[in-house]
Amino acid sequence: PRVGSSASHGKTILIGEHAVVYGAPALVLPVTDVRVTATASPLSAGAEPTLESTVHTGPLGSAPAAVLPTVTAVTATLRHLAQTGHPDAGALPLHVLVDSQVPTARGMGSSAAVAAAVTAAVADVFGVALDTDTHHELIQECERVAHGRPSGLDARGVVATEPVWFAAGVIEPVQVTGRFVFVVADTGVPGHTREAVAAVRNRHDRAPAMVDSVVERIGGLARAARGTLVDGDAQGLGATMDAAHELLTTLDVSSGDLDRLVGAARGADALGAKLTGGGRGGCVLTLAADDEHAARIATALRTAGATATWTTSIGARA
Ligand code: MEV
Repeated sequence: PRVGSSASHGKTILIGEHAVVYGAPALVLPVTDVRVTATASPLSAGAEPTLESTVHTGPLGSAPAAVLPTVTAVTATLRHLAQTGHPDAGALPLHVLVDSQVPTARGMGSSAAVAAAVTAAVADVFGVALDTDTHHELIQECERVAHGRPSGLDARGVVATEPVWFAAGVIEPVQVTGRFVFVVADTGVPGHTREAVAAVRNRHDRAPAMVDSVVERIGGLARAARGTLVDGDAQGLGATMDAAHELLTTLDVSSGDLDRLVGAARGADALGAKLTGGGRGGCVLTLAADDEHAARIATALRTAGATATWTTSIGARA
């Protein structure tokens, strides 16, 4: 055993949150410069396994509920290693250090990103590089502890380096023409993904035709958005983002804070703006024409109350 390390990053959903739960396709963007790093250091035999993170520092065995997904990342990976040729793994105590720049509960995939980095760091202790499917399954095991029944979108986004097309659990990288610059802004209010997903489920039980038709239309927007990425059509992409925000609003997963930031971005001539992730708090995703425009949008968003903004781009570096 050696000191293992790994890194991952945040994500935002470009189009398809909520609709993906009902089988619609979705597009997820990696946010590669908002990073999580993890290291796993072997301790001497019999020592108590420990965790060091901003959420909790102390014994792994008595960690609070908030870090149970991280504990799962350690134990599930050691179990996997023990079953696949590393019988000593089950008994090896580790000190796991997590350093995350991804804000929690903001729709940026923090739980999946931490799970991705920790599982890979623990495997690295044994010199094992997890294959994509195994890594995904381990992240999803942690995500189920964190969120119940996640679609898997977050788990894909936090390890991707290009936009990912996600349809019926199958993923495909999207070839982007040109460069797209986004500004993500935090309302400062924790998102409530679990409640928002449950509220949509409730509405679906009461008015299935209404929700099904919104899901269908969001799926159509995801397909259109994919086309705009391939064609390098930023105006077209922005229009699909605006339309997605309106549809998500009809599902009642937006909030006053989200709508205010979306309005501020549009006031700064953003090409498109929408809530991203589960909603009812968390972040908005906006599209800029270029870096200079992104800086103006970020200023407008902070003036409107955003507690943090991140600029991220996909496609060719100009
Ligand atoms: C949350 O990031 C996205 C949702 O679509 C839920 C999911 O995909 O599991 C709201």
